[in-house]
Amino acid sequence: MRGSFRGIKRVLITYLGVLASGNGSNFERLAQAVLSSEIPNAQIACLVTDRECPALDRAGRLDIPFFIFKPVDFALAVEWTGAITDCLKNHKVELVLFAGFLRKIEQPLLAAYKNRILNIHPALLPGFGGKGMYGRRVHEAVIAAGVKESGVTIHVVDEQYDHGPVVWQERIPVEPTDTPETLEAKIHQLEHTAYPRAVAQYLKQMAEPA
Ligand code: GRF
Repeated sequence: MRGSFRGIKRVLITYLGVLASGNGSNFERLAQAVLSSEIPNAQIACLVTDRECPALDRAGRLDIPFFIFKPVDFALAVEWTGAITDCLKNHKVELVLFAGFLRKIEQPLLAAYKNRILNIHPALLPGFGGKGMYGRRVHEAVIAAGVKESGVTIHVVDEQYDHGPVVWQERIPVEPTDTPETLEAKIHQLEHTAYPRAVAQYLKQMAEPA
């Protein structure tokens, strides 16, 4: 994405679109990482949510354009997904980042952004993922299974829940004293450093010639 013309370096900005349904702390961390160039040469073009949620307040504070697309306002799921796709395209988004987005996305968004949608999951996929595996439930399942490690996974989104190729994982030990609450808090912290790193690496790969 860098070019030079008669000695003048030109740096192209990649526009990111974030989709969230809740608190939005990962969204805010991504926005900070863009501002600090931890994620270099990028800009968050917009936040899209499917409901009223605290992530919208964060976007307001960060001066990032935000849009709410409620499925109930559309006759068909495909129309809802189409409206989100149009919004992202209108904002020149090239990479879509799910940050606590709780709905399954199908065509036409997947077709428009093939290999260009990432999701963050608070466990080590392929374990502890799939339909209904979100929030505290993930950490309850990890503790109940008695595994020694958990962590964070960032993966490419495809048609199945928590399924596409893994692009980044970070691990932490599950201590015998951990509860779902303590594990959730530790993993949430880890997400805030892991997601910006994973996005920076993915953008670098996107910029490299195939
Ligand atoms: C995170 O735990 C993420 O892994 C999951 O949803 C949660 C979102 O947290 N997909 P926040 O809204 O960014 O605080």
